Amino acid sequence: MTALTAEPLPDSLVARLDLADRGLVDRLHRGLARSETRLREVAADVPDALVAQWSRYLIEAGGKRLRPLLVLLAAEFGETAPADRSDRVQDAAALVELIHVASLHHDDVMDGARSRHGVPSAPARWGNRTAVQLGNRLLIRAARLAADLGGEVVRLQGGAAERLVQGQLRELTGPAVGESPLTHHFAVIADKTASLISLALRLGGAVAGVPAPAVRALAEYGEHLGIVFQLSDDLLDFAAEPAESGKDAGIDLAVGVRTLPVLLALSEDGPRAAELRRLLEDGPVVDENGRRRAVELLRSSTAEARARELLHSYATDARDALSALPDVPARAALAGLVGLVEHRTS
Ligand code: FPP
Ligand code: MG
Repeated sequence: MTALTAEPLPDSLVARLDLADRGLVDRLHRGLARSETRLREVAADVPDALVAQWSRYLIEAGGKRLRPLLVLLAAEFGETAPADRSDRVQDAAALVELIHVASLHHDDVMDGARSRHGVPSAPARWGNRTAVQLGNRLLIRAARLAADLGGEVVRLQGGAAERLVQGQLRELTGPAVGESPLTHHFAVIADKTASLISLALRLGGAVAGVPAPAVRALAEYGEHLGIVFQLSDDLLDFAAEPAESGKDAGIDLAVGVRTLPVLLALSEDGPRAAELRRLLEDGPVVDENGRRRAVELLRSSTAEARARELLHSYATDARDALSALPDVPARAALAGLVGLVEHRTS
């Protein structure tokens, strides 16, 4: 296997956390650099040079590396080796990012997304068939890493991957008969997004010998943080300019996904809400002018403010879950991350 050394990541979450504990900052920087190297090595570990290059494309394009950082922070609560010295912790961090990148390949096929991390998406570069197989490859490499880390890690990884797929499927089926669209939406985002964020924390706990009550608190924090992450993503879909988010604008509308702000705007009274209902009644808004108008109506509704209030209450729940953890520097870092995720712009 060729050793691939990772470039330092720009705009690192660690720097933005502005942590007081220098020891923790150094451990996180070292842990992230090593897991990044591992991630690229594992992704590119294939005899065919072209497949190796394609497999690394989206990894090198960017990403915040939130999930690897969560693995390292959870491992800080462990009673075994410090996070920066444990190969198992770095492998767990690489594993969770591999699943994430695999899911982005498939998600961009499902959404017909043309850009991701500010570059052409994998399906835009090589077509749907190649993008699907690249996603499969990365998912399988993640499963092999899990097998090397032991039965508990395999079990946790399998459970989260199943929830991921279930979330995507439930998004496609829509609410069951009699189910409220909001209840359905929260179940979807818990499965499609919070599952993997929570997995990162559970894995860090599993590989670093974190006591069971602390792992439970970390997992609960992860479930809330995951909802915060997805709700802020849903807001970015129409509130942010593509140059900032690195993704296409209004794509949720284009594929007919009713996110929280859309659901809230649809439930408002008045002519603007009625116009939005008419625009969205057939599901996907394929026409560009229609999409632009829908984005305008959403931006002028109270839905954004109401969605932000809900987002804020999940952020509070995430911080509250941390009170069950010992007061080590990683706890302050996890609390700081909630604010960064809540107010993210990409
Ligand atoms: C992004 O959602 C997508 C996900 C969080 C999950 C995607 C999962 C799959 C496609 C199932 C396949 C799973 C594996 C493990 C290969 P979004 O479209 O709301 O976010 P975006 O704005 O980043 O596209
Ligand atoms: Mg998408």
